[in-house]
Amino acid sequence: MITKQKGTNDIYGDAAKKRTYINDILAALCEKYNYGYIETPVFEASELFHRSVGEETDMVQKETYDFKDRGDRSITLRPEGTAPVVRWFVENKLYGNLTDPVKVFYNMKMYRYERPQSGRMREFTQWGFECFGSSDVMSDAEVISLAYNAYRLLGLDDIVVELNSLGDKESRQNYHDALVKYFEPHIHDLCEDCQERFKKNPLRILDCKVDAESSIIKNAPKTLDYLNEESKSRYERLKELLDMMDINYIENTRLVRGLDYYNHTVFEISLNGSYALGGGGRYNGLVETLDGPETPAVGFAMGLDRCLLAMEENGVNIPINDSIDVYILSVSETEKETACYLTQELRLNGFITETDTMNKSLKSQFKSVDRFNSKYLIVLNDEELKTNKITIKDNKTKEEESININDLVDYLDMHM
Ligand code: HAM
Repeated sequence: MITKQKGTNDIYGDAAKKRTYINDILAALCEKYNYGYIETPVFEASELFHRSVGEETDMVQKETYDFKDRGDRSITLRPEGTAPVVRWFVENKLYGNLTDPVKVFYNMKMYRYERPQSGRMREFTQWGFECFGSSDVMSDAEVISLAYNAYRLLGLDDIVVELNSLGDKESRQNYHDALVKYFEPHIHDLCEDCQERFKKNPLRILDCKVDAESSIIKNAPKTLDYLNEESKSRYERLKELLDMMDINYIENTRLVRGLDYYNHTVFEISLNGSYALGGGGRYNGLVETLDGPETPAVGFAMGLDRCLLAMEENGVNIPINDSIDVYILSVSETEKETACYLTQELRLNGFITETDTMNKSLKSQFKSVDRFNSKYLIVLNDEELKTNKITIKDNKTKEEESININDLVDYLDMHM
């Protein structure tokens, strides 16, 4: 028997319904913030992620699904959505006439070769938003507001935004120099990967999973102490805007995020200090890194699977429809023809309708009515049909009424 791959899931039944519920809420919310939907391909040139996410990140070093296609091209399964969206933005030259920000959202499967555990999958879904064209702190605030309200609309009221700033290029360089100076005497006490990170990108030492609890990492310099005046005042302004919008945030001076493309704002959203439900930030240099002109941008991505888990763990009531509107029972050939026609008619008029397609006995069809928890049932009868009549029964009150077959839709419209 062939089984599913480790870290993947078949999504069906109630889990599928719950996702549809979340998807509908998030899509409607993104629309309110005037974001347009985008989907990018599942696979891209490997170079896209190597150049953008960063060669020294865990994602590129350990987690990407890389392979050669039959044309010997290096291909990577999408591990995140920002780089592909930037690739789309540059490829379509959307920077050309930027009178307003370009704002898009996505709901896409991502692939990372991680050790599977609760909330960590190899195939998972991200809901993400990206906004291009504004360097103003108002757009950081808008993205944080969208992310924050997404969780709240889903019933996760106790979420916290963890906030930090990495500053502009100059501030980041100052911070980089401070980290080099700080880690140099301790480097041999850190893991082998960190020794490599020290040479290539010391910032990455801060999100090492092996040394996370080491006091060396815990006492490392903090980004905020190395911000220049401009970056500092930008960060202060952002906090003022978040206060104005009543967004519950805390500063986390250790937050650097696991991807290389960020500057200025970085943030993560979590519940009771548990793992990140989502993360994002500003990435002003990424369009240039991917061969476009200098374009400011900011974005966020939510892990849908983690969000769903958090909703379940916190007892959020997710409405799931477990009933149908009408079941039509039939036995003879002519009754079946009418059933065929009527089910289509009802479905096209918005009623969830079922009928027997297995040539079952009437007794078994009645059992289906109960299994599907049908609100109404109609037992077709050739005699009755001769006069264009059908009998519709309310399955709860058991009341029945004989009506003209042409009045069925109106009848249900009135009664449901
Ligand atoms: P990220 O922090 O790598 O950021 O991922 C965002 C979210 O995806 C995480 O907070 C988590 O909820 C979810 N996630 C990540 N890995 C897994 C996994 N293996 N299983 C289940 N869920 C997972 C990004 O991907 C950036 N592109 C976000 C961004 C958008 N920055 C700017 N724009």
